[in-house]
Amino acid sequence: MLEELSLGFPPIHLSNTNMSSNLLLFRSAIRPLISSIKLQHISIPTRVRASSHHLGRCVSSNAAAAAAAAAVIVSKDESYGNKQIISLTPQLYNYLLANVREPEILRKLREETATMQGSQMQVSPDQAQLLAMLVQILGAQRCIEVGVYTGYSSLAIALVLPETGCLVACERDGNSLGIAKKYYRQAGVSHKVDVRHALAVDTLKDLILNGEACSYDFAFVDAEKKMYSEYYELLLQLVRVGGVIVIDNVLWHGKVSDPLVNDPKTTSIRNFNRSIMEDKRVSISMVPIGDGMTICRKL
Ligand SMILES: C[S@@+](CC[C@H](N)C(=O)[O-])C[C@H]1O[C@@H](n2cnc3c(N)ncnc32)[C@H](O)[C@@H]1O
Repeated sequence: MLEELSLGFPPIHLSNTNMSSNLLLFRSAIRPLISSIKLQHISIPTRVRASSHHLGRCVSSNAAAAAAAAAVIVSKDESYGNKQIISLTPQLYNYLLANVREPEILRKLREETATMQGSQMQVSPDQAQLLAMLVQILGAQRCIEVGVYTGYSSLAIALVLPETGCLVACERDGNSLGIAKKYYRQAGVSHKVDVRHALAVDTLKDLILNGEACSYDFAFVDAEKKMYSEYYELLLQLVRVGGVIVIDNVLWHGKVSDPLVNDPKTTSIRNFNRSIMEDKRVSISMVPIGDGMTICRKL
């Protein structure tokens, strides 16, 4: 029965951490649900039990119903006000992805990156779309990205920046930057991207020394997890009041919520999340998209 349920989900076509994180979160959240659905809700009518053909169809339709039902968790805990919370199943995530308007050039870059080592690091198309929309809502002219890799999120940002806009793209790895630059050229946005091949902290400090504090509208952080607090403090100096800093991987494959997981990266992200929660210099929204992103607006 469990196998039928799993087979009921369409395959996932993307491969990256954000996707697999969703899957991990989904699996850990859904396993007990599936077990209880199996026990409580999937009963096979006696009149079709004799036919394996009918049995298959019955299980499939029940499985589909169970899968759909499993996408919604209704908490019995009154502290949630009995609110229905959606759990992102692969089926539902595929639906969501089918409703993302991914530009052709980003699709090409994503597909080329998928063949490379580390492709799981790339943000997902729905995340990139949200980043681009935040840039547009802000009317941002000046942006910073910490952690470019092959350029998927930076290209999504550069594509929506005005012609006079600028994205400072911080990355320490020259090889992946080579691919990013190729796609900036193909997309005709190279003039908007100021590539900084260096350690991100050094670049951010240089920008401050160069008198650029409070002059940026938007920043996206997606690099070394243990450095998040340092990136954040420097970016808070560089971003103007009303500007936005988005931090990726704040749910860290769901590990942050598990008190038994205390490896250095998880602990570091958990501590960072706690410090942001208490930081009165920003308003915040933690969003369960990809591997979790926190949107901070400087007050
Ligand atoms: C998660 S990936 C970025 C993914 C990218 N945002 C995208 O959507 O494709 C993290 C990147 O940060 C870079 N990185 C890690 N530590 C860094 C540092 N200290 N300075 C600059 N880049 C760094 C890594 O080389 C890697 O390419």
